Amino acid sequence: MHTIRPYDDTRDRAGVIALWRTVFGYETAHNDPALALDKKLAAADGLLFVAEASAPAGAIVGTAMAGYDGHRGWLYSIAVHPDCRRAGLGSALVKTAESALTRAGCLKVNLQLLAGNAATAAFYEVLGYAVEPRISMGKVLADNLPRPQ
Ligand SMILES: CC(C)(COP(=O)(O)OP(=O)(O)OC[C@H]1O[C@@H](n2cnc3c(N)ncnc32)[C@H](O)[C@@H]1OP(=O)(O)O)[C@@H](O)C(=O)NCCC(=O)NCCS
Repeated sequence: MHTIRPYDDTRDRAGVIALWRTVFGYETAHNDPALALDKKLAAADGLLFVAEASAPAGAIVGTAMAGYDGHRGWLYSIAVHPDCRRAGLGSALVKTAESALTRAGCLKVNLQLLAGNAATAAFYEVLGYAVEPRISMGKVLADNLPRPQ
């Protein structure tokens, strides 16, 4: 059994960081989990959710992050612990994020996957997402990266 609820920094930080390291790895500075949590908390939008296991109590086994800028909604960091997959938890996390975006007035949700992540694309297709012909571009704003100690 799992409970999906909003992220609570006091209770959930260590568990979310551990889960993201397990699921995503993260090798780039701008994706550092602690920094990502700090930035999301600073946004104060209530769009980060966790799945907490009933046993062991308090274990964080899933996350869903959404963002809404008034134009598009975005999904990020949809993650389920490898031991808890294929039981509907990922779908429930996406639906929780979609419901929050709907309440915020969002009309369309986008997400990005690494090219070749066919398994996750299959997951999203079941949830109604379609591959769209777009070129995804990005740029790191280096001035905001943490300085080396
Ligand atoms: C993608 C992910 C979140 C799915 O979580 P999950 O809890 O296993 O998903 P669900 O149980 O809700 O799956 C629902 C359906 O999606 C499809 N699906 C899920 N995982 C799949 C896979 N690896 N391959 C193919 N289809 C898959 C299936 O149709 C599944 O239904 P079924 O189990 O009855 O066949 C999880 O595998 C994960 O954390 N992956 C790594 C992180 C990632 O890539 N996140 C996305 C980046 S934003």
